[in-house]
Amino acid sequence: MNQTISLLLCILLSLFSFSADAMADYNIVNFGAKLDGRTDSAAALQAAWRKACNETLSATVVVPKGRFFVSRALLQGPCNNNDLRVVILGTITADSGFSSASEWITFKYVQGLSVQGGTFDARGQALWACKAARRSCPFGSTAVTISGSKDVLVNGTKVMNSENFQMAVIFSQGVTMQGLTITAPANSPNTDGVHVHMSTGVTITGSSMSTGDDCISLGPGVTDAWIYNISCGPGHGISIGSLGWSPGEPGVENVTVSSVVFTGTQNGFRVKTWANPYGGFVKDILFQHATMIDVQNPIVIDQNYCPNNNCPNNNSGIKISGVKFSEVEGTSTTEVAVKLDCSQSNPCQGIELDNIKLSYSGENMQAEAQAFCRNVQGRSTGYVIPPSCL
Ligand SMILES: *[C@@H]1O[C@H](CO)[C@@H](O)[C@H](O)[C@H]1NC(C)=O
Ligand SMILES: *[C@@H]1O[C@H](CO)[C@@H](O)[C@H](O)[C@H]1NC(C)=O
Ligand SMILES: *[C@@H]1O[C@H](CO)[C@@H](O)[C@H](O)[C@H]1NC(C)=O
Ligand SMILES: *[C@@H]1O[C@H](CO)[C@@H](O)[C@H](O)[C@H]1NC(C)=O
Ligand SMILES: *[C@@H]1O[C@H](CO)[C@@H](O)[C@H](O)[C@H]1NC(C)=O
Repeated sequence: MNQTISLLLCILLSLFSFSADAMADYNIVNFGAKLDGRTDSAAALQAAWRKACNETLSATVVVPKGRFFVSRALLQGPCNNNDLRVVILGTITADSGFSSASEWITFKYVQGLSVQGGTFDARGQALWACKAARRSCPFGSTAVTISGSKDVLVNGTKVMNSENFQMAVIFSQGVTMQGLTITAPANSPNTDGVHVHMSTGVTITGSSMSTGDDCISLGPGVTDAWIYNISCGPGHGISIGSLGWSPGEPGVENVTVSSVVFTGTQNGFRVKTWANPYGGFVKDILFQHATMIDVQNPIVIDQNYCPNNNCPNNNSGIKISGVKFSEVEGTSTTEVAVKLDCSQSNPCQGIELDNIKLSYSGENMQAEAQAFCRNVQGRSTGYVIPPSCL
């Protein structure tokens, strides 16, 4: 070979390896993942993740079609790139038993991540049965957790049958979830669809959730959340709370929940605080454009939550202000379609009912929908049926 040819080859080779780097794909099968649905592919998934995370340009982890058993996986950063993609064509399944772990699949400390497609089947049935039998059981794992991360997209992903929360977003910023399908039976305990905690700029859109607990729950420290076009049911509705469980909780601020169809849920739009003295706040919340189809409690503010009656002074220290319910229509299966039950020591302020039309659809032929107010200040605008108690 003369020098010119070897130089050309050398250039070609380096071009090739550059382009291979730029679109690095790491298929978990190449790291030993098995399609049989039985062999534990956790190590393969984590090895593929580490390779992709180590790339300096964008990189993709591919989970091909088929069922992969993953006992548990922590997919952790920080990574060398901020365009890490996880493309899931198949199904990732959990063990059919249960352990004391609190998370199953976790993405942690990543900046610039997108998870596309896929099904996560957490197989929570054994733990629900344990809880139903009132044996002493662990709390259960959250199926998919986004933790301590920034600029994350989860798109077109299905999550089912989690032991505990189906998805959780905690200590994160800028997380968009679109086109989620979340399913668990109506009687499965604590299977909230998406639980958000201590996070800013979380967007959840175009998703369908049927669960045994809240479709979406927003806990302490959630700010600038945007939730749009959700179908919820069965489930316990979309809630802010429970807040005030412990001292020093950061408040919840600037949340919009818009365009939701609730079908046969326990609640619709709800704000819930423990009847505990710990301070905190909820402010600037807009709940709008909802259809309630046979919902037990369509509109709820409940500051007297204390299921075991061990809340010493029976009063919530959380200040709730600037909560607007607008354009809410449909049916309530209990007479109290609107319940605004605030704290005696911290009355709610600036609560607004605007264009509400809820009728009673329960079994009592004589009954009509009503609104209930306690310790609440605010106003109503437009039409408000049942008649406003503000
Ligand atoms: C990480 O990437 C660097 C190049 O950026 C490479 O030299 C190193 O071998 C990679 N490490 C692993 C474990 O893949
Ligand atoms: C999610 O994926 C769908 C279908 O591929 C696409 O149309 C949509 O733009 C994606 N959403 C985001 C936020 O990128
Ligand atoms: C609402 O979400 C559903 C999926 O649940 C989607 O098919 C539909 O296109 C979305 N509509 C709008 C207006 O975004
Ligand atoms: C409220 O949150 C939205 C995102 O949902 C954001 O665009 C907006 O700037 C926030 N408003 C304030 C006053 O921070
Ligand atoms: C606490 O408040 C609830 C609802 O306001 C009431 O039903 C209950 O009797 C109260 N309990 C005590 C101990 O004051």
